[in-house]
Amino acid sequence: MRAPDVLPAPAKINLALHVTGRRPDGYHLLDSLVVFTEVADRVFLSPAEDISLEVSGPRADEVPAEDNSLLRAARLLSEKFQVSGGVHIHLEKNIPVAAGLGGGSADAAAVLRGLVPLWSLSVLPDQLAEVVLALGADVPVCLRLKPARMRGIGEDITAVSGVPSLWAILVNPGVPVSTPAVFRRRRGAFSEGLPSLPHHWEEETFLAWLKAARNDLEVPAVEEAPVIGKVLQALQGSAGCRLARMSGSGATCFGLFDSKPGAGAAAEVLRRGHSDWWCAVTPLLS
Ligand code: C5P
Repeated sequence: MRAPDVLPAPAKINLALHVTGRRPDGYHLLDSLVVFTEVADRVFLSPAEDISLEVSGPRADEVPAEDNSLLRAARLLSEKFQVSGGVHIHLEKNIPVAAGLGGGSADAAAVLRGLVPLWSLSVLPDQLAEVVLALGADVPVCLRLKPARMRGIGEDITAVSGVPSLWAILVNPGVPVSTPAVFRRRRGAFSEGLPSLPHHWEEETFLAWLKAARNDLEVPAVEEAPVIGKVLQALQGSAGCRLARMSGSGATCFGLFDSKPGAGAAAEVLRRGHSDWWCAVTPLLS
């Protein structure tokens, strides 16, 4: 089978994220509602003798040359399945790095999705699961690219249907935030899991459900990078914003809006007030 020409690697948003425990190895147990967006990196794969990577795009400078999720994904898959050939990976980097949007995980997942057909691998799901989790806790959900509830450290994925068609503004203040540093700052008791998910969601019930949940990493992330608090305030004060919250371990925050024009108008105001912040408008993909 021929590998697809372009592999999309969309940014995710954690609409809610509860930290429910900690494993003996230090990884945290989560319960999170994840959706994907139209903000995306693009990955192109072509057959080659060795494994190599070339990066272009507005965020290319932020991708480390050697220790990055794409090369790790290709090398791990190659080792696991004893592949003799290689691949040339071209990444167009658009998603801010170390931003709580899962860009590196989405890139790794795109490489895995593309390499299975390119290398003609017959992979059983559980064999891929081992590779996937070794690459990062967000990679399993990024292989599916559909709204999902993510539990465990990220390996336990349940599909979530009926997410209403809302629009989001994503705002990143340009400060990279280290995920381990944010987890280290988290204090106090662990949370309960997310409130039980309804079978059917109208927009209002969805928003009420979301408001009853939170992102447990928001407080430690604001301690780590206080500008996140300013981003949240700016989103909360935007006309038409139904909910403002941080995604993942930050620093990107999102505001939810009923409509594209509503989100677009609010984004214009934010861009005028904060020309140094990255700001994108996207639907929540279902
Ligand atoms: O696996 P990933 O690269 O996303 O995680 C980076 C770091 O964030 C981990 O090494 C760990 O310190 C922390 N982390 C965690 N629990 C998770 C995910 C990440 O403690 N579920």
